[in-house]
Amino acid sequence: MNGNTVSGDDITGPRVTGLGGGTVRGIRDRVATHLVGRTRELDLLLATVAAGRDVLLEGPPGTSKSTMLRSITAEWGIPFVFVEGNADLTPTQLVGHHNPSRVLREDYSAENFVPGPLVEAMRTGGFLYIEEFNRAPEDTLNTLLTAMAERRIAVPRVGAVDALPTFRIVASMNPFDNVGTIRLPDSVHDRLCRIAIGYQDDVAERGIVLLRSGIDSDRLVADAVALTRATRDRDDVRQGSSVRGAIDLAVIAKQLAEIREVTLPDEPSVTPPRTLPGEYTVLVLDAMLVALSGRIHVDETLSATPEVVLREIWEDHFLLAPAAAEPG
Ligand SMILES: Nc1ncnc2c1ncn2[C@@H]1O[C@H](COP(=O)(O)OP(=O)(O)OP(=O)(O)O)[C@@H](O)[C@H]1O
Ligand SMILES: [Mg+2]
Repeated sequence: MNGNTVSGDDITGPRVTGLGGGTVRGIRDRVATHLVGRTRELDLLLATVAAGRDVLLEGPPGTSKSTMLRSITAEWGIPFVFVEGNADLTPTQLVGHHNPSRVLREDYSAENFVPGPLVEAMRTGGFLYIEEFNRAPEDTLNTLLTAMAERRIAVPRVGAVDALPTFRIVASMNPFDNVGTIRLPDSVHDRLCRIAIGYQDDVAERGIVLLRSGIDSDRLVADAVALTRATRDRDDVRQGSSVRGAIDLAVIAKQLAEIREVTLPDEPSVTPPRTLPGEYTVLVLDAMLVALSGRIHVDETLSATPEVVLREIWEDHFLLAPAAAEPG
C-alpha cells in the first residue's frame, strides 16, 4: 500500500498534509457555516486534526460533537467512519473478519477479508469516530493504541494495513457517564489530545432550535430552550436534557398546536387567534413531558419522578415570567 507511513511520534511526517485542495483556514470557514456558534471548539478541533493528532472529545450528549466532525470530514473530502463503543466492540469487530463461507471454499486470503471500521478508515484515510469510547473493552483499546502509535496494524492472514495520511481516531465520551464504563488506561490518555465540549449558551441554543425545527415562533423556541436548560440546573437531576430535547419540544408543541387549533403566541396567523388563556402553556407542558421525560435522569436516591420534576420546572418558568402565560 502506501509507503508514507510515519510513526505516531513523527510530527513532520505526511500526516500534516492531505487537506484535499483547501487550506485549513478555508475548511474552517466552510465548516463554520454548518454550525451555530462553536467557533473556538471548531478552531481547536481543526487545529488538532490538521496537526495530524488523534483526539478525545469529552462532553455531555447533544453538544455538537458529531455535527462538527461530519462537517469537517465533508469539507475535507474524506470518509467519516462511525462506531459506537460498547462491551460488544471486540478487536475483531473493529478490525474485520474473514467471510466464513468463502474461507470454507477458498481457505483464508486477503480477498475474503471483510474490513471492519478501523481498517476501512485506515485504508481510505478517514476519521474513525468512536462514540462512548470508555465503554469499549480494554483489548479493543489496545488495538486502537497500536493504530494510533504506528499508523499501521498487522491483520492475521491479510498482512500489514497502513493508514493513509488523513486517517485520524476521534473518540468521544461523556464524563458524567459512570455505568458500564472503564477508566481509560494512561497509555491511551497519553496518545490522545483532549477537547472539553460543554453546553452552549441560551442564545446559541435558540439559534440551533430555530435552525433545526424551522419554527417561526420565537416565543415557543425561547420557552423550549429555557425549559430544557432548567433541567440541567436541578439538584435532583443527575443529567438534564441536551438541546435535542429542546428541538423535540418545539416541533411537538407546534404539531399539538395544529391538532388543538391553538395559535402560538407570536405566530403570524391568517385567522384571528382562537387561543384561550393558558392553552398555550398547557400545550407546552404536554410537549415537554413527551420530549424531556425520557431524557432526564432523576437522582435514584430520591423519590421524585421525571414528570414531577418537569412540572415543577414548568410552573417555575411560567410563574416567574407571567407574561409568558398570556397569549398574543
Ligand atoms: N452548534 C450547533 N449548530 C448546529 N446544530 C447543532 C449544534 N449543536 C447541536 N446541534 C444539533 O443538535 C443535535 C445534537 O448534536 P450532535 O449530534 O452533534 O451532538 P453530539 O455531541 O454528537 O451528541 P452525542 O454525544 O449524543 O452523540 C443535532 O440535531 C445537531 O444538528
Ligand atoms: Mg454524536
